[in-house]
Amino acid sequence: MGDLVTATDFLVTTPLPDPGMSLLEAAGTVTVAGNGMSHAELAEACASGNYKVVVAQLRDEFDASLLDRAKIAGISNFAVGYNNIDITAATANSIIVGNTPGVLTDATADIAILLMLAVARRCVEADAFVRAGKFHGWEPELLLGHDVSGKTLGLAGFGRIARATARRALAFGMTVVFCPRPPGDREVSDEELGEFAGKVGHISWPELIATSDYLSVHVPLNDQTRHLVDADVLNAMKPSAILINTARGPIVDERALVAALQGGTIAGAGLDVYEDEPRLAPGLAELPNTVLLPHVGSATVPVRAEMARRCAENAIMMVRGEMPPYPVNP
Ligand code: DGY
Repeated sequence: MGDLVTATDFLVTTPLPDPGMSLLEAAGTVTVAGNGMSHAELAEACASGNYKVVVAQLRDEFDASLLDRAKIAGISNFAVGYNNIDITAATANSIIVGNTPGVLTDATADIAILLMLAVARRCVEADAFVRAGKFHGWEPELLLGHDVSGKTLGLAGFGRIARATARRALAFGMTVVFCPRPPGDREVSDEELGEFAGKVGHISWPELIATSDYLSVHVPLNDQTRHLVDADVLNAMKPSAILINTARGPIVDERALVAALQGGTIAGAGLDVYEDEPRLAPGLAELPNTVLLPHVGSATVPVRAEMARRCAENAIMMVRGEMPPYPVNP
């Protein structure tokens, strides 16, 4: 690590919501890059020795080439996910990484359910219909959609957000099944099942794909889950099925999804994340059987404030040379 004695404590690539910035400013010197940095600008700043800790966003990519040259002590990521950071390379270069776990579970589960209902009940189409002045009174077959009660929700993953989604779906009278680590499997103890014992079913990935009326993705993005939902998976789903993704875009092969939606292989999709954010696969935005949100799973005022607090706390402890409260690579 380079000489950090005169370095600025925090390089903030994009300002944090309150109270993040005030916590950082009270604890040390802060440079705010503006509203994001290019990869080249970030790499140069990290290699300069001018900053101790980077307070980063998901769109800031810390790959091995950047991290191998970096003279920073830590990266505090303003997110629970950290697929924008090569953790192996960070660890190899003694760079601590922190994230913001736990606080966005319910907000993201709400968005998964919102997307499921919005696609099933054609909410966006219906809203546009009214605004366009096309509503001329109740009609027996106007904008008919799909039920959720009595239907099967399949959860790819069984972490915090999947379980919060299961809790909500059970309250809607849905059957809930899950595969904890697709495309493979793993044991789930009674202790881990906890409140869900006897209420949700643990099944294999092929069974989950084939039986779900709604398939909701809740796995981290890694080499095993990239394109987990590909053309083969989409072909094996029910033609009436609806896919929900609030996790990470590259888990779904977006071009295959567009083809499946265009061809009627599945009935619809609700997406909060995209394979190449903020770009969309060609054709996706034109499909009426989709609801598309701009990665807002955690976007409530209290959740973003708590994420900002945790992100700042991580960064402050890193600058002090102490273990952050939410480390990714202890
Ligand atoms: C995260 O935290 O990983 C979300 O995707 C953004 O809040």
